[in-house]
Amino acid sequence: MQTVNSIVELRRQIKAWRQHGQRIAFVPTMGNLHAGHLALVEQAKQHADRVVVSIFVNPMQFGPGEDFDSYPRTLAADSVKLEQVAIDLLFAPSVEEVYPHGHGVASQIEVPEASEGLCAESRPGHFSGVATVVAKLFNMVQPDCALFGEKDYQQLQVIRRMVADLCFPIEIVAVPTKREADGLAMSSRNGYLSVVEREIAPRLHQALQQVTQGLKQGRRDYVALEQEGAEFLVAAGFVPEYFTIRQADTLQAAEPGMPELIVLAAAKLGKTRLIDNLDCSLVE
Ligand code: PAF
Repeated sequence: MQTVNSIVELRRQIKAWRQHGQRIAFVPTMGNLHAGHLALVEQAKQHADRVVVSIFVNPMQFGPGEDFDSYPRTLAADSVKLEQVAIDLLFAPSVEEVYPHGHGVASQIEVPEASEGLCAESRPGHFSGVATVVAKLFNMVQPDCALFGEKDYQQLQVIRRMVADLCFPIEIVAVPTKREADGLAMSSRNGYLSVVEREIAPRLHQALQQVTQGLKQGRRDYVALEQEGAEFLVAAGFVPEYFTIRQADTLQAAEPGMPELIVLAAAKLGKTRLIDNLDCSLVE
């Protein structure tokens, strides 16, 4: 595995691989890697000859008062993990390399519809920051495909929409959420949880399971189901931000008769904000 920090070095290597007709898969991350990221890498290997991983904690996607400064930066440990799974190239640029004029005045990408509601309610500007950095990274790496986890489902939809709207010739591959043995979705932010909060945290997944079970058993009273899910979370000690049943492809409100639904939730447990989702196909 080689590690590069500059766009020039990155492009030199990409060009050499391209000259040999090799296909390139890309896994963008913010580091602090866990088994969920490594599952993306494993999938990436199935799709290409070369795997590029980026580690960049993107200031543009953090709002004021969010955890940009405290976000875990564990480059040395991450490099060891990536060596072990035998990726080809780690791109770890500085903020100045990615935003030479400063991220506050950089050109930005706005993705309508997919970026509205849900997580955007509490994180205004977040998806513009994500779309902007992903577009920049796509232009730097120019991969054939890029892999994203389904845990960040709204992010996945934003990126799909951006790729379609801006005609990036990149296949977006969604990878199922990797979970701990007790069901908690793996996330870099799980490390913020206290011992007691960590015991409570899997209830988020349980709440989603209960609601998807209700849907599969034929319930279509979406508002009541959402309310029950949120109440379950409150009783467990969470402060829910949203608990909602949506159409899986558009994230628009669920309507009776729609076969592909997704249940999504975001909730705070102490100071830690957790998100998760479960898709629910009602097709027999
Ligand atoms: O999901 C993440 O880790 C980030 O939002 C991403 C896609 C790497 C962009 O910074």
